[in-house]
Amino acid sequence: MLILGIETSCDETAAAVVADARGIRSNVISSQVLVHAEYGGVVPEVASRQHLASVVKVIRQALADARVCPAELDGIAATCGPGLVGPLLVGLELGKSMGYALGRPVVGVNHLAGHLSAIFLEHEKNPPPPPYPHIALLVSGGNTTLFRVASRDRTIMLGSTRDDAAGEAFDKVAKLLGLGYPGGIVIDRLAAEGNPEAIFFPRALPAREDLDFSFSGLKTAVATRLAAEGRPQDGALADFCASFQAAVVAVLVRKSRTALRREGLRDLVVCGGVAANRGLRRALVAASQEDGFTLYVPAPVLCTDNAAMIALAGSWAIARGERGALDLSVDPGLPLS
Ligand code: KG4
Repeated sequence: MLILGIETSCDETAAAVVADARGIRSNVISSQVLVHAEYGGVVPEVASRQHLASVVKVIRQALADARVCPAELDGIAATCGPGLVGPLLVGLELGKSMGYALGRPVVGVNHLAGHLSAIFLEHEKNPPPPPYPHIALLVSGGNTTLFRVASRDRTIMLGSTRDDAAGEAFDKVAKLLGLGYPGGIVIDRLAAEGNPEAIFFPRALPAREDLDFSFSGLKTAVATRLAAEGRPQDGALADFCASFQAAVVAVLVRKSRTALRREGLRDLVVCGGVAANRGLRRALVAASQEDGFTLYVPAPVLCTDNAAMIALAGSWAIARGERGALDLSVDPGLPLS
């Protein structure tokens, strides 16, 4: 089965062809990050227009890379939520049009289900896939959520952020420090040179056994400190980044361990853009050795937004008989049930 995936939920225009429910035949990503960097964050209307300008080119490239012509496709999967409404509409409407013209089934894919499926794609940097049930920590610019993944199509949310997502906290703190947008990767790089114990930043909801997160207080603590002491330089900047990162990582690791213990499971998948963070990976490896659970992190290119994960989740939906009607629409707040 050859499935074309289309992903346009935020600021990446992506298309991919996935074959036989796992193999990546192509994976094209056109990032808008430089366009939005000027504004210090994603501007939704600008994102929609950028998607419009590049989506056909990106799909053509994905088909060419896969050496597939449109008539050979068995189905089309496009992200239908959650995300930005304008960008989502561009990808889904184009996917539906292609499906109609080709006489192929089209399914709308939940972006979060896409992230959870990335670990099942065949990729040289992906580990062997995890068994069901397992715990998944989805940690990105828009989400910080723990799931019990019971099977391909049954996912139970165990806890989520009450305010900012972890990636959003990284990006906002990077902005406060004048490190540009998106700043997660810059903080990660600077943190490697710094002392994570130099400053103690608050860990949210620490005493609680629930699995919710909160990062807005941490962001305020950073802002308050910067207002009082000014922007740190050189070694002090590295210490600042390392200490901030340590506060985020500590909470993510603690809640993941709690989820595994509470649910009696031994397999943890970590996905989404922040899964690329080296401090988080190191801390999770240490926790997995201490507690005896198995850690699964997708290849970095499959952690951030991509269409291969959408094609895979879509191929599962098509295989179980799902079909999107022509009036299928997007839902910016689509939950994962
Ligand atoms: O999954 P993703 O590409 O897009 C969303 O669906 O949100 O994640 C992007 C987020 C951004 O907030 C970015 O700053 C963060 O992931 N990120 C990182 C790192 N690489 C990307 N955060 C911390 N450390 C990194 N190395």
